[in-house]
Amino acid sequence: MASSDPAARAAELRDVLNRALIAYHVEDEPIMEDAAYDALFDELLALEEEQPDLVTPDSPTQRVGAPASERFRKVQHLSPMGSLDKVTTAEAVSKWADDVRKRLGKEGDAVAYVLEPKIDGLAINLTYRDGVLEQGATRGDGVEGEDVTVNLRTIRAIPLAMAGEKVPGTVEVRGEVYMPLSGFNALNERLVAEEKKPTPNPRNAAAGSLRQKDSTITAARPLSFWAYAIGVHDGVELASQWETLAWLREHGFPTNPYAERVETVEEVVEHSVAWETRRSELDYEIDGIVIKVDSYAQQERLGALHGRPRWARAFKWAPMTAVTRLHKIAIRVGRTGALNPWAMLEPVEVGGVTVSRATLHNEEDINRKGIREGDDVIVQRAGDVIPQVVGPAGPHRKGTKEFRMPTHCPLCGTEIVKPEGEAMHRCPNRACPSRGLETLISWVEGPADVDGVGEQTVRTLWQQGLVRSLPDLYRLQKEQLLELDGFGEISASNAIEQIESSRTRVPFSRVLLGLNIAGIGWVLAQNLARHFETVDKLMAAAPEEIAEVEGFGPDRAEAVAEWFADDDNRALVEELRRLGLNFELSAAEQPSEGPLTGRTYVITGTLERFSRDDAQARLEALGAKVTNSVSAKTTGLVVGEEPGASKLAKAQKAEVPILSESDLLSLLGES
Ligand code: IVH
Repeated sequence: MASSDPAARAAELRDVLNRALIAYHVEDEPIMEDAAYDALFDELLALEEEQPDLVTPDSPTQRVGAPASERFRKVQHLSPMGSLDKVTTAEAVSKWADDVRKRLGKEGDAVAYVLEPKIDGLAINLTYRDGVLEQGATRGDGVEGEDVTVNLRTIRAIPLAMAGEKVPGTVEVRGEVYMPLSGFNALNERLVAEEKKPTPNPRNAAAGSLRQKDSTITAARPLSFWAYAIGVHDGVELASQWETLAWLREHGFPTNPYAERVETVEEVVEHSVAWETRRSELDYEIDGIVIKVDSYAQQERLGALHGRPRWARAFKWAPMTAVTRLHKIAIRVGRTGALNPWAMLEPVEVGGVTVSRATLHNEEDINRKGIREGDDVIVQRAGDVIPQVVGPAGPHRKGTKEFRMPTHCPLCGTEIVKPEGEAMHRCPNRACPSRGLETLISWVEGPADVDGVGEQTVRTLWQQGLVRSLPDLYRLQKEQLLELDGFGEISASNAIEQIESSRTRVPFSRVLLGLNIAGIGWVLAQNLARHFETVDKLMAAAPEEIAEVEGFGPDRAEAVAEWFADDDNRALVEELRRLGLNFELSAAEQPSEGPLTGRTYVITGTLERFSRDDAQARLEALGAKVTNSVSAKTTGLVVGEEPGASKLAKAQKAEVPILSESDLLSLLGES
């Protein structure tokens, strides 16, 4: 029952709202809907407006709007905030651990470590007196920082009053204020839409937000907080970092859920290295792993050097974003005629790799992000994906124009079309030379997977006029390769050998895929191959027969029939057959019987451990079927990075189980 006494009701509301914030930020288990939170918040606000003496400093209504005079005053931390020495290689981590063990002597045999993601944000120091937040300051030089209390109070992950029993008289809680990537991207989109300068990375965004003169602006920024250490702590007995993290949580401070305690150096190295690829799973940027000796007694014995503790190291990776000049937006015509814009960049190091080109999606996307030729742009790599241009790094210079797609194909001059409702522009000319080039590139990199012959070689062969079609590739002679720059006796022999081996190695379904029929990807190519078994039967099939193949509707079936009715395409098939490529289903391509017989899976998004082909092949080897579209008959939807939204939605609607990559691994018996 809600209290009728206003003071009691205000206390109740404060309590439940503060508990809701902790449930959300610390426990990751929300206890109420946003709307319910807002309603209770409004009720408390109304009570406090009526009776201002009910306002307490820890009321959730007191997060915005303190007096201006106190802003950015310099304040001293009660105990200094150190900084960390960094290491960048697994070897350096091992060397540091050796040093730690040596320094600890006999005790060095039992060292446990705490690993914490190193959040790329801003270190802050929060001072609580008798459990109430009194002051929040930036790290500054470690001794003296800036008082940003009013702005920190707007961050809902930071408790205004500590939770739990037995709060200390004075405690300093340290941690990182950061901006989640989703919030960062949304903020930049908004800034660009308002013709303001976007922020280059989430760290700057967090720093800029914390230094706002007007705390209502900070309040509107999606900032969050992880606590990872304490400074001065009156009367609190803690023996280790691991205990400290638990103590922080108990008192209402969010700590990073991925922090872990390990007992061997091997685990330290293995886990730290693994995080470099895992980091793309997170909705915030981490630039490394902080490795801490767990025991406080051991920390003390190890001590510090120039304010940098010997008991900890930051294992840092190269940043995943960088700013560089976008020289030109170039166009590449894809193997189905789609015009793909891409960015020619001034080479720049991003995440340890030099990047000189990046993908751009389409005209609309480029202009929505405000990307223009000649701008300095933010380039981002996430995981192993191709670098992307996030947006401009500063306000547009005057005179640069919005990007426009060419009106005519840069390769064959045919007028470009943009089909109704589609984002892509296309060259409608089926004989456009670029299509041949892209087909060849995708053939050597995809279906045929020719080792040692990649995009660059194919481009050169194309430019020299040596290879203009798939049959040309299988007629190529070593002597022709030797005439090219970059080929010697050995590399030319190897390349020819690889091409040679692909001639008979590539199974029928992959050859079909390589023919580059619009709309036919790996699953449909396989379904066609299995259904018709030979290319002759496929070529003779009427559209209605093709429509019976799993995954085909009338339109797609019509398009396939049309492709095989075309004289040039039939000639291509004959030529490839004469050259020895497979146009009949082999035993290896037949569905096999196994523990997963009768089950049907769909894969969406990019998997980390497998290519999709690989994942499909392994599922099929166990008897499962892999299809392209989710229906009520689907056993499970395997979801990788950047999954297709419609597949996910369909799966949810049809209540098809969603499987992660690790679920897939256990399904394959490999977990
Ligand atoms: S502990 C004695 N733990 O990294 C220094 N720092 O140079 C104790 N950081 O300024 C710092 N995540 O901004 C620590 N889990 C974490 C951290 C972390 C990020 C930042 C922090 C600090 C810098 C260290």
